[in-house]
Amino acid sequence: MIWETFDDYEALSSRAAAILLGAIADDPGAVLGLPTGRTPIGMYRHVVAACSREYHCFQDVTTFNLDEYARIPRDHPGSYYTFMKHHLFDDIDIAPDNAHLPDGNAPDLAAECERYERDIASAGGLGLTFLGLGRNGHIGFNEPGTPFDSRTRVVELTSSTRQANADLFAGAQVPTHALTMGIGTILESRRIVLLASGSGKRPAIERLETLDLDPAFPASALWDHDDVTVLVDRTSVT
Ligand code: GLP
Repeated sequence: MIWETFDDYEALSSRAAAILLGAIADDPGAVLGLPTGRTPIGMYRHVVAACSREYHCFQDVTTFNLDEYARIPRDHPGSYYTFMKHHLFDDIDIAPDNAHLPDGNAPDLAAECERYERDIASAGGLGLTFLGLGRNGHIGFNEPGTPFDSRTRVVELTSSTRQANADLFAGAQVPTHALTMGIGTILESRRIVLLASGSGKRPAIERLETLDLDPAFPASALWDHDDVTVLVDRTSVT
């Protein structure tokens, strides 16, 4: 695991964007795993700025988001579909059919999860996946206790995660369930970059540093992977 520490969120975001754009420069048909949450917003902002200068960046790129809430419409303000459109997809030249998110409103959610796994495999597997980090160590929506070999499935969210993600629901109930890539799915990505910023992430970063592989702390599964880069800024380390 390679650790890189930046002075501030802006520098971290710029480095994350450079990694993403570098992967596309190396392979214009790259398959990317993408996160939501507050942390990657700066990365997406830098990517959009670079791609409006160099227009055809995403023409042959395929993306798979890590997760989506269950049982809310795709165009709900709190959905990850809306988040991705707003922060990235509306501003880049990705083909809509190449930008994948699990469909949280599919009639059969278990079948939808299986379809998502098949789509990732048909695209050739994830090449580079970016992750945020939950305060309790969750990655995607894999909450503490998730087996390291888990696949894409429906999960119940913890109340702390629902509270942490309440902003986009403007006082309404945060969904109780979500669809998420499993830890096993994520670990099959050839390269992984984890982003963490903000003092709220300090305990999780400290725990990740201990190299103690424990399903009670999902991000520790990343020690099982041989190409992980962790980008932190000074607000998230002690
Ligand atoms: C949500 C997402 C995660 C993300 C986490 C952290 O729970 N499902 O993928 O990593 O939030 O979000 P933030 O970056 O806002 O702290």
